[in-house]
Amino acid sequence: MAAAAFGTSDFIVVANRLPVDVERAPDGTLNWKESPGGLVTALKPILSARNGAWVGWPGAPDIGGEPIPGEDMLLMPVKLSAQEVEEHYEGFSNGSLWPLYHDVIVKPEYHREWWNTYVEVNRRFAEETAKVAAEGATVWVQDYQLQLVPKMLRMLRPDLKIGFFLHIPFPPVELFMQMPWRREIIEGILGADLVGFHLPGGAQNFLYLASKLAGYSTSKNSVGVRSKFGVVTVGFRSVRVGAFPISIESAELSATAKLPETRQRARGLRKELGNPEKILLGVDRLDYTKGIDVRLRAIGELYQEGRLDPERHVFVQLATPSRERVESYKVMRDDIERQVGRINGDFGRVGRPAIHYIHRPVPRRELLAFFAAADAMLVTPLRDGMNLVAKEYIACRNDSTGALVLSEFTGAAAELRQAYLCNPHDLEGVKNAIDEAVHQEPEEGKRRMRTMRRQVLQYDVDRWARSFLQTLAGTVDETPA
Ligand code: ADP
Ligand code: G6P
Repeated sequence: MAAAAFGTSDFIVVANRLPVDVERAPDGTLNWKESPGGLVTALKPILSARNGAWVGWPGAPDIGGEPIPGEDMLLMPVKLSAQEVEEHYEGFSNGSLWPLYHDVIVKPEYHREWWNTYVEVNRRFAEETAKVAAEGATVWVQDYQLQLVPKMLRMLRPDLKIGFFLHIPFPPVELFMQMPWRREIIEGILGADLVGFHLPGGAQNFLYLASKLAGYSTSKNSVGVRSKFGVVTVGFRSVRVGAFPISIESAELSATAKLPETRQRARGLRKELGNPEKILLGVDRLDYTKGIDVRLRAIGELYQEGRLDPERHVFVQLATPSRERVESYKVMRDDIERQVGRINGDFGRVGRPAIHYIHRPVPRRELLAFFAAADAMLVTPLRDGMNLVAKEYIACRNDSTGALVLSEFTGAAAELRQAYLCNPHDLEGVKNAIDEAVHQEPEEGKRRMRTMRRQVLQYDVDRWARSFLQTLAGTVDETPA
């Protein structure tokens, strides 16, 4: 390929979503504002130091196509038609892959048109990336919506160093084998030089498939955390496979939670909730993987049995709307709102609901005040790649009070062993974990929280990004970071 075809960015993140908020001005023009999430913040120094670019979908149909220079990076919005959004994002990504990779909690649907559009959209992402990448650039492809990009990009630009990270669980082989285009997906991911998962188990599942399904020779040793990487030999290339548990901007969150204004807002929230003895909190995208129904059922029964008292123990569920055009999400929303209504009907009184349910995204500062106010955080997914909410709560507990109820089926459970762990399929177990968390002895609670805080503060998102990128650059020794 001629040098003139290369772009100027030395480091590129490719993700389904751009880190921007698009605002439409009164005159109809669009304004783009970078919106920092954990990933952007962690990568910002690298992005600005290395002519960074971010390739992604701006979140609405028929927008994009032209690069937008930003403060710290070039933004490259990938333009998708309404039909492509329906078939790539709502269809194959969130109607096929998301449920399949989350233990088929709802039944995945497989449609050939969805798959064809997934291939088409992945190709567009690869082409846009190839345009902005400088010769020999490092490209980091993110998540399940873009699993074919590594191979497509390598075919367009063999000079690039390509990493791929999956943010959701990689399923057991028995489930993955349902996928009609299973081999294409494995081959797509194997276009990368380094493939990352949250947990060694996901890496192991992938290695097994690379060998048994795609016929490549693979290393046999077990994969460690940020260490003991697996290897797949693809022709003359070696693809490394590892576990890199993602995290949050721990120090930043902890500092913000400590600010007088956050603490004052936390006291304000408690007052607005009627000064209950204990505030229980759930914070999730409204997604069937999150086990919101499980915790509602548990709380309803605990009120019923008198183990929680609606006068003294209030539950707040913050639920961001998500993927609202996907049928399974509509069904789940109805189900959850019915449960909230029933519990409030049975146990609330005028001006004093037992459950406060907010179906809107909460501004970041307000969210941290909720974390600072909550005496018990309920994180009960049926399956979750990591669950950042659990880590965010821990980071905000500066005085080491509070308690975390955590599903064993989250990636976070591998690191936060001092949480009140529970199996979300065992309702009595969930009830007991909530009961114990709410009624813990203060000293016991502090002991648990201190250990979890050490873990979360030490292993932050910066460490996650560095460990992945150093491994990709081939500069890391293989002792655990
Ligand atoms: P997922 O990526 O599946 O949504 P995570 O728990 O890993 O789950 O990350 C969710 C992110 O979204 C966290 O940073 C969390 O603080 C944020 N979030 C979740 N629910 C809300 C809400 N109701 N309001 C504001 N932010 C939310
Ligand atoms: C999970 C996925 C991300 C996705 C996010 C929000 O964290 O791993 O890839 O961006 O959920 O979902 P959405 O469908 O709104 O992008």
